[in-house]
Amino acid sequence: MPQKILVTSALPYANGPIHLGHLAGAYLPADIFVRYHRLKKNDVVYICGSDEHGVPILLRARAEGVSPQEVVDRYHAVIKKSFADFGMSFDYYGRTSSPVHHQLSQDFFRELAAKNTFRLKTDKQLYDPEAGIFLADRFIRGTCPVCKYEDAYGDQCEKCGTSLSPRDLLNPRSAITSAVPVDKETTHWYLPLDKFQPELEKWIAGHPEWKTNVLGQIQSWFKDGLKDRAVTRDLTWGVPVPDGSGQDTAGKVLYVWFDAPIGYISATKEWAQEKGEPGLWENYWKDPETRLIHFIGKDNIVFHCLIFPAMLMAHGDYVLPQNVPANEFLNLEGNKLSTSRNYAVWLDEYLQKFEPDALRYVLAANLPETRDADFSWKEFQARHNNELADILGNFINRTMTFAHSYFEGKVPAAQAADAADRDLLQRLAEAPARLEKLIDNFQFKHYVREFMDLARSANKYFNDKEPWKTRKSDPPTCAATIHYSLQLARSLAVLGAPLLPFTSRKILDMLGVDQMPEWDQSGQPGLSAGQVLGETKILFGKIEDDLMEQEIKKLQTTAPAAPVAEAEPENLISLDDVRRLELQVAEVIAAEAVEKSNKLLRLQLKIGVEQRQIVAGIAQHYPPAELIGKKVIVVVNLQPATIRGVQSQGMLLAASDGEKLAVLTVDRDINSGSRIS
Ligand code: MF3
Ligand code: ZN
Repeated sequence: MPQKILVTSALPYANGPIHLGHLAGAYLPADIFVRYHRLKKNDVVYICGSDEHGVPILLRARAEGVSPQEVVDRYHAVIKKSFADFGMSFDYYGRTSSPVHHQLSQDFFRELAAKNTFRLKTDKQLYDPEAGIFLADRFIRGTCPVCKYEDAYGDQCEKCGTSLSPRDLLNPRSAITSAVPVDKETTHWYLPLDKFQPELEKWIAGHPEWKTNVLGQIQSWFKDGLKDRAVTRDLTWGVPVPDGSGQDTAGKVLYVWFDAPIGYISATKEWAQEKGEPGLWENYWKDPETRLIHFIGKDNIVFHCLIFPAMLMAHGDYVLPQNVPANEFLNLEGNKLSTSRNYAVWLDEYLQKFEPDALRYVLAANLPETRDADFSWKEFQARHNNELADILGNFINRTMTFAHSYFEGKVPAAQAADAADRDLLQRLAEAPARLEKLIDNFQFKHYVREFMDLARSANKYFNDKEPWKTRKSDPPTCAATIHYSLQLARSLAVLGAPLLPFTSRKILDMLGVDQMPEWDQSGQPGLSAGQVLGETKILFGKIEDDLMEQEIKKLQTTAPAAPVAEAEPENLISLDDVRRLELQVAEVIAAEAVEKSNKLLRLQLKIGVEQRQIVAGIAQHYPPAELIGKKVIVVVNLQPATIRGVQSQGMLLAASDGEKLAVLTVDRDINSGSRIS
């Protein structure tokens, strides 16, 4: 029985083009996944579309002096085209400004309202008395209370990264008229997530197989306790809040994060209509057997794992996601991507210069599956030249060239397989099952590695068999070598098709194969002797240094001053900040309790030739004797201080999880006084 699988990728905001960070998060892994499942002959539908509401789009429209519809029309087209050129194989790419979407979102809202799901709350919000509108998050600007930057947004200071709420701003002003906002009462609908928490916890407990980065975030939300979330806004752009509740809904729209995920459903509905089977969408959304899988980036976890599922639970007609394999972030040349600073590689620009498969390969080989990853042009070049060109491309090319030169462009017959041939056939036979497990478990990086390893062993087989020698000394063996090499080429075309769809098609054309073989047939030889081959084509040319240098230079003009740290965006510091700390290795030569204190120890440290005394609050975790002889880490340029009458000339570094405490030390012996950088 084929599985029924509904796959979605996060709907990108239609306020800018797609960049590599997007691709590595929600798009490329999903496309590999669905392409595999199609080859596996499962019943898979892949849905995406543009997210066309939200304040940033509105602000952009205002800044450009055009309507929001104009903004989203422009970027919807740009995004849709670049996705297609990159080989994203959506069954349907919708948009949330569509009438079907508006209707369905309003129906969804009405259904929840009828079930008494929402809490209505009236409170004071900031209002622009000149423009006569309420000012949501980004519509308010003012001075950041933390760094005093004067142009901070109501939800975040772009200068220091602090997340804010509008009332934190000093001297707040309307981003539209610069008027001073006033308080005005307004009523909104809230989704009481607290009420859903028990049901959500139960549901999540049934999914221990989800990725740990996803479960970790969910658990921390649970721990803090889920809170009410407003699902409506006072705005002019969005899905209007439907009438019927007796409340005044004028000037109110659904919050963008309420309507956007419903976009997955409305796009499936439009897909079914376009197919001429309008009811087909229900086959997926309303069948509990459907495997619903949301591919997203980590910033979308709370919406896909808690808020949207709570909405779905409240509604009751639809399936819940079976998995949400969220990825971490992709950095670029060691720095955080930034669209506002234009520090990014844009997909449409990439595609004007390079092949889609090259990027698919390099990104997939280095996906931020479990932690943030980095894209660099040097690595792009290296993987392209050393792996795609020198291994895969080279193997296909030498096999094809040989078949054309010495076997009249046909698949030669293999009379008998020797041990090396049988080894190879064995490996091939096992490959589909091995690779499919990796793809189905969202281990795409591992799949890519195994795939390239297979190409590597194909290349090695060709080398070891030396057909250029056996051609004269042992023609039947030579024919068998080329026969099996061609079979291998076919298998590689199928097994690599989810990853390299364009290359795969080219390989099959070279082999004279029209119809893409099924995944399950890819481990068995499928070409018959005598089959006429197509023309040989070069799959991957070399990418030269100067091209890469141009790209790197282009990025340097917009690169931030400091490379990324593994820190939360709110409290990033610069490299210079890090360098201001002078850290050195110190050896503890004496330790004793500070009188009348149960927390403090007085330590004598040897730091190179110097000796220093410091006071550390670790008495409850270490008996003094245990510290003697340890090599510890000390901040040496801290202002001296007197603690409980004892001089302290530095600070000892230690880690704490709230209960336990561990003093930092070095992982092999090194001289005291060594500098840390
Ligand atoms: N537009 C959102 C973003 O780029 C993602 C929306 S996903 C959906 O972060 F589920 F709401 F559609
Ligand atoms: Zn600030």
